[in-house]
Amino acid sequence: MSTRWLVGITSLFALFVALGVRYSKYGNTDYCRSIPGDPTWPTETDWNHLNATIGGKLIATSPIAAACHHSSSLGGSATSSSTFDQEACDALRDTWFFPGTHLVSPSSPMAYQFTNNSCNPFLDPDTPCRLDGLATFTVNATTAADFQAAVRFVKRHNIRLVIRNTGHDYLGKSTGAHALSLWTHHLKAMELIPEYRDSGSAYQGPAIKLGAGVEALEAYEFAHSHGLIVVGGNCPNVGLAGGYTQGGGISILSSKYGLAADQVLAWEVVTAAGDYVTASPTENPDLFWALRGGGGGTYGVVVSMTVKAFPDTHFSTAFLNVLNDGNNTDAIYTAMGTFFQSLPALVDAGAWVVWVAAPFGFMVIPAMVADLHAAELDAHFQATKNEMDRLGLQYQYSSAEHSDFISSYNSIPAIWNVSNHHLGGRLIPRELVRDQESTDSLVKAVRSITSQALMSGVAFNASRAVSSPDDVAAHPYFRKTLMSGVVGTPINYTDWEATKAAQNLITDKLLPELQSITPDGAVYLNEADFQDPNFKVNFYGNHYKRLLAIKKKYDPEDIFYVKTGVGSDSWVERSDGRLCTI
Ligand SMILES: Cc1cc2nc3c(=O)[nH]c(=O)nc-3n(C[C@H](O)[C@H](O)[C@H](O)COP(=O)(O)OP(=O)(O)OC[C@H]3O[C@@H](n4cnc5c(N)ncnc54)[C@H](O)[C@@H]3O)c2cc1C
Ligand SMILES: *[C@@H]1O[C@H](CO)[C@@H](O)[C@H](O)[C@H]1NC(C)=O
Ligand SMILES: *[C@@H]1O[C@H](CO)[C@@H](O)[C@H](O)[C@H]1NC(C)=O
Ligand SMILES: *[C@@H]1O[C@H](CO)[C@@H](O)[C@H](O)[C@H]1NC(C)=O
Ligand SMILES: *[C@@H]1O[C@H](CO)[C@@H](O)[C@H](O)[C@H]1NC(C)=O
Ligand SMILES: *[C@@H]1O[C@H](CO)[C@@H](O)[C@H](O)[C@H]1NC(C)=O
Ligand SMILES: *[C@@H]1O[C@H](CO)[C@@H](O)[C@H](O)[C@H]1NC(C)=O
Ligand SMILES: *[C@@H]1O[C@H](CO)[C@@H](O)[C@H](O)[C@H]1NC(C)=O
Repeated sequence: MSTRWLVGITSLFALFVALGVRYSKYGNTDYCRSIPGDPTWPTETDWNHLNATIGGKLIATSPIAAACHHSSSLGGSATSSSTFDQEACDALRDTWFFPGTHLVSPSSPMAYQFTNNSCNPFLDPDTPCRLDGLATFTVNATTAADFQAAVRFVKRHNIRLVIRNTGHDYLGKSTGAHALSLWTHHLKAMELIPEYRDSGSAYQGPAIKLGAGVEALEAYEFAHSHGLIVVGGNCPNVGLAGGYTQGGGISILSSKYGLAADQVLAWEVVTAAGDYVTASPTENPDLFWALRGGGGGTYGVVVSMTVKAFPDTHFSTAFLNVLNDGNNTDAIYTAMGTFFQSLPALVDAGAWVVWVAAPFGFMVIPAMVADLHAAELDAHFQATKNEMDRLGLQYQYSSAEHSDFISSYNSIPAIWNVSNHHLGGRLIPRELVRDQESTDSLVKAVRSITSQALMSGVAFNASRAVSSPDDVAAHPYFRKTLMSGVVGTPINYTDWEATKAAQNLITDKLLPELQSITPDGAVYLNEADFQDPNFKVNFYGNHYKRLLAIKKKYDPEDIFYVKTGVGSDSWVERSDGRLCTI
């Protein structure tokens, strides 16, 4: 046999192997990421090499509920047949709905739907615990070099990458089957910059540089120690530099300073090319723009974020609640109309107002406002209280004053249960409360939804923070929004079909109620239905095209894929979790 022929055969074989990635064995021409079992999946030696490169920080996934199952799969290895531990399982069941339970885990998403129902403390212990929707391995990163190593590794081996910070994401964007997960949780550095200056920015004043893993309360306490406040969310352990700010970020301070995305002065980013760059008004300004509200996990991985900080001040809070006793339903919804109409003046006075309605009744928990005294806040609730009195409703109202942000923040309910609801949302524009007729249509929709589900709204005025809605990537609709409305239906941990039906109820029935009164409306991408068929328009509006161009420039190979992210519609997650182009 001639050497020439052998070379020919060998290169033909090599070509087939190469094509094996592109033209998968499933007999189609889609391009797919490798999954375990594929000949192209990294070998144990490859993983060990990665582990050595990052100083031993590679973690093989072990699902947190393995203790509740007799046999469990573990990332990168075979099944373990003796993981059951009654005591550990009972303890887990008792704390399952606390964010802290998932926060400390490298792999457990708070949005349970994305685990594929394969492992939880409420299932029959005889069912096997599988990885399914969880990443296979995690890089427990502490440096930018760890980020670079992870990005280079997934590129070299054509495997899926996910970025996980706190795991709060409701749309499953911080988890992914057969992926290497980059965990940013331990990047906790914080630095005060007393007088920030940048030739590209008009801002001059204090700033704080936050590592990718800093949680809201950690930043609030650090700012407080310097007499400052920063813009962040109401859940103490939602991350600041990750999905929250990159997705827009609605804050307690939004009616005073705007969205979280409006505060960013600079980012440090590891790009898909593996480069460690700055994104600011003068360096990579397009990336700087996209990261301010264009969605987490899409354009690069953020190492740090520098944000404006403001002088601390005094705050007031108010709480209101009325229970539905079966006889007062009409009165409650009538009073809610009055409450909705009071919101424009409240948010223009600087307030952030959270309300919740469900079959049990209606609550404001709370309204919080800077620089107003309790009596001034009370005045804003007078019309609602008068209406409740007129209707004969039994309600409780209270208000209080606090000398600074942190004591005010600590006075509002801090424990948020997670992992118990499906989510969907819609931004409610200010024009919907302009007159009685449109307010009635809003109340009618809210009543219809809350007779069968939970609904919450967060009211703010983020229009003063920017000179143009196009200054940052966040949906321009935020600037005419009065509140972000969220609907929730319960997750059933023992009935997967019921759980899927509960999400479909949101998609097919509950959200359409809000869509019909907000045509040409929008959705806050962090508080949204992951099944939204119109996510491109709803989540990004007319910024989508510009964001897609930036995405293609910085990440031409789609290293950073997230469900409902910009450019994500070129990919599909198959039922076995394999990620392929379509
Ligand atoms: C209990 C609760 C309360 C909430 N309250 C608020 C609120 O008050 N206001 C508000 O606006 N939102 C709120 N949210 C929504 C919240 O903003 C989103 O869940 C957000 O995605 C959380 O970001 P994270 O980084 O903490 O979470 P993760 O789930 O870890 O990450 C979310 C997304 O960001 C990406 N990401 C994370 N870190 C990075 C990084 N360093 N670089 C690039 N991409 C990254 C991930 O890939 C993922 O796509 C709340 C959510 C929950 C569950
Ligand atoms: C990575 O290395 C560390 C330290 O050598 C080791 O403890 C750990 O088990 C390794 N991780 C994996 C997934 O092999
Ligand atoms: C919140 O979660 C805890 C811990 O899992 C649970 O005991 C409690 O019943 C939950 N509360 C509500 C209101 O769901
Ligand atoms: C989800 O579960 C189904 C049914 O057990 C299974 O066929 C599918 O492969 C699972 N998906 C993933 C991503 O593991
Ligand atoms: C991740 O790294 C941090 C910081 O080095 C360490 O404290 C923590 O124990 C690690 N977590 C896991 C699960 O290995
Ligand atoms: C509701 O109204 C009915 C009929 O008037 C009355 O019998 C009942 O006591 C009322 N219930 C409550 C909780 O007020
Ligand atoms: C927000 O407040 C400003 C200043 O009071 C006002 O001009 C603007 O109309 C308000 N806009 C929205 C959408 O709330
Ligand atoms: C969950 O589903 C099971 C089986 O259909 C049902 O018996 C149970 O009541 C449901 N649980 C909840 C909390 O709805």
